[in-house]
Order: sequence, then C-alpha cells, then structure tokens
Amino acid sequence: MFDSYNDIFTQRAKTYDTAMHCCSDARRAEFECATKNFPWKHREIVADIPSGAGYLSKYRPREVDLYHIDSCDTFNQLSEQKVITSPLEDMPFPDNHFDRVISIAGSHHMEDKNGFFCEVKRVLKPGGVFNYSDVMQGSKEDTFLNQFVDSYNSMGHQGIFISKGTISDLANTGFDIVQADYQRVCWQFNSEQDMVFFVKSLFGLDLADDDTILTNIKDILGYQVQSQGVTMEWALYYIDAQSKV
Ligand SMILES: C[S@@+](CC[C@H](N)C(=O)[O-])C[C@H]1O[C@@H](n2cnc3c(N)ncnc32)[C@H](O)[C@@H]1O
Repeated sequence: MFDSYNDIFTQRAKTYDTAMHCCSDARRAEFECATKNFPWKHREIVADIPSGAGYLSKYRPREVDLYHIDSCDTFNQLSEQKVITSPLEDMPFPDNHFDRVISIAGSHHMEDKNGFFCEVKRVLKPGGVFNYSDVMQGSKEDTFLNQFVDSYNSMGHQGIFISKGTISDLANTGFDIVQADYQRVCWQFNSEQDMVFFVKSLFGLDLADDDTILTNIKDILGYQVQSQGVTMEWALYYIDAQSKV
C-alpha cells in the first residue's frame, strides 16, 4: 500500500523520465502553451512547480533564471539539472522572490490545492504571473486518466482535476484571473509504436498490453496518422493569473 501520491511518484518517476527522454519533444505544444499569453521576459526569475526533472527548461530563453522544484526526490537524482526537492506548500524561498510561477499538469494529486496556491502567492512578487494548467474535470483526459489509467496502472490513478471551484479558490487566494481556457495541445510522435511506448511509460501502465493502450487512446482521446508522424489529441485547462498587489 502507498501512503501518498508522493510515494506513488517515487515508484513512477523513473519510467516517467524515460518517456520524457525517449520522445523528448512530444509535449512541446503543452509546454509552449503555458507562456503563450504572457511571453517570457528578459532575465525574469521563474519557478516551475512541480517540475519533474525540469522538462520545461528546453522551451525557455537562455537568459531566464528558471528554478525547478518537485516534491519527489527521485527527479533530483535522475536529472542533469538542479531540481530542488521540497514540499510544495512550504518552499525554501523568501516572500516576493519570483516574477513568475509556472505549474503544468502537476496539481491534480494535491489534496490541498489552497495550500499550494497560498505558497505560490507568497513566493510571487506582487503583480507576478502564475501560469497554471492541468487536466479539466469532465474532459476526455479526465476519463483517460481516472478510468483507463486507473484500471491499468497497478497503483491506480484518481486525480482531482480543475473545476469551477478550483478557479474560485485561486481567486480567493489573492489572484486576479486574467484568462482561463481549455486548450488543445496535441502530443506528437514519429510512429504509433512511439506513442504507445510513451503513454505506457509516462502513466506507468504495467497492466496493459500495447494493443489495449492503442485502442484506448483511439477510443477515448483520438489520434491521427499523417505522413510526418502521429498526432495524439490532448488538451489542458490553462489559467493565467496575476498576484494582487
Ligand atoms: C504529472 S507530473 C508533472 C511534472 C511536470 N510539470 C511535467 O509536466 O512533466 C506530476 C508531478 O507532481 C509531483 N508530486 C508528487 N507528489 C505530489 C503531491 N502529493 N502533490 C503534488 N505534487 C506531487 C510529482 O513528483 C510529479 O513531478
């Protein structure tokens, strides 16, 4: 039995990282979409929370000072970059430290998102930007994760995804919501075989064979095979918020 999602991710981090290295550009659109409405600024100080092994790094301009923070220490051990291991509701930074915080697909296992939002508010400068994204409650990605992955990952998967309540909680924590939208950010692969390997490794599908994975991608998410590769449907809810002054 596992006590917490952090314990689960300690088991899952290695295969997650293998997926992210084998198809290192598959989620480009998902990462690039995070900063679409608020482009990177010269020399800004940015935190990516939770960062995994720092996968956002390749999509930022060099002169940005990007910190990677994750609660699971395995990512720090796997990464060639510095990943700070810390509880996400109590991070080792002073108040008003960052110009921007980015959080991609990482909050759906937080039992207390308010604790995380309060901590983001504390470490952000007044007026600082919070680019927050995750799976939307009731979406096809919710079905894929909480039904298919839940059945075929031996540790299960029950995410608490973004709802109207999450957006209210963010506003009540001291953020102005600038925009909030469900955005299509398809994943790209060279072949169906690569897609299946990526999904199997990223989501730890130890109980599923390749045919089962391909069928469920097709039936729940959808994908297209084109001459230049394979496009898998994926979408997240992206919220841009600004810390109230
Ligand atoms: C789906 S990954 C997202 C990582 C990265 N942002 C990305 O897009 O690849 C979820 C992350 O949440 C971290 N995490 C583990 N336990 C957690 C917890 N209890 N609460 C919040 N995050 C946790 C994991 O270590 C993992 O890096």
